[in-house]
Amino acid sequence: MSTYILMKILESTPSRYDKGLRILTLGRLDQAYYDLVSYIEENQRVLDLGCGTGALTLRAAKKGAKVKGIDVNSQMLEIARRRATEANLAQNIAFCEMGVGELGEEKSESYDVVTSTLCFSELTEDELVFTLKAVKRILKPNGVLLVIDEVRPSSLPKRMLNWLVRFPLAMIPRLKRRILLGIYFPLGSGLIFHSTPGKH
Ligand SMILES: C[S@@+](CC[C@H](N)C(=O)[O-])C[C@H]1O[C@@H](n2cnc3c(N)ncnc32)[C@H](O)[C@@H]1O
Repeated sequence: MSTYILMKILESTPSRYDKGLRILTLGRLDQAYYDLVSYIEENQRVLDLGCGTGALTLRAAKKGAKVKGIDVNSQMLEIARRRATEANLAQNIAFCEMGVGELGEEKSESYDVVTSTLCFSELTEDELVFTLKAVKRILKPNGVLLVIDEVRPSSLPKRMLNWLVRFPLAMIPRLKRRILLGIYFPLGSGLIFHSTPGKH
């Protein structure tokens, strides 16, 4: 829940989202994107769920994949579209304003890869169950689901510490003044990265 609130704070100002996320994850997210994209190959069809400002979408397109990025936030998508055009990758990407609840409209066995980076943690349990069933249907045989999301600290004290440390970090991009962050806080949670074969 705490992560959900922090993400919502960042998403409320999409123009500062990327900077804020980098601060919040202490720079570790770029490495996670890099690792995840290493599983994506040229000409594969990729669906990026909750693509946001396109961090993963653009990286996948750069590898030569044909990518569809979906998101419910039109402002995040606007930034993603601009970035794709600036990077000359727009021809390999289709950004669509749609939610995971509309995945029923996607053709069965039509994607080699489905990705979700920091989106699953924003879904309700019902949405997540629906999404995973839809992903299983739309993935080709031997397709893969690649996920980056957070590991929630198991104990309450660690969760509280995590919240106390991260709340100010999430607020930094909202401040007008420039703040130099010179201290690295030991966090009680980390990013996880894993891949799951799409068995049929
Ligand atoms: C924390 S951001 C992650 C964005 C991007 N994947 C990244 O790695 O930076 C979560 C994104 O999921 C989107 N999102 C939340 N609920 C969604 C839903 N039901 N369907 C589609 N996108 C959703 C939000 O609008 C937001 O852009």
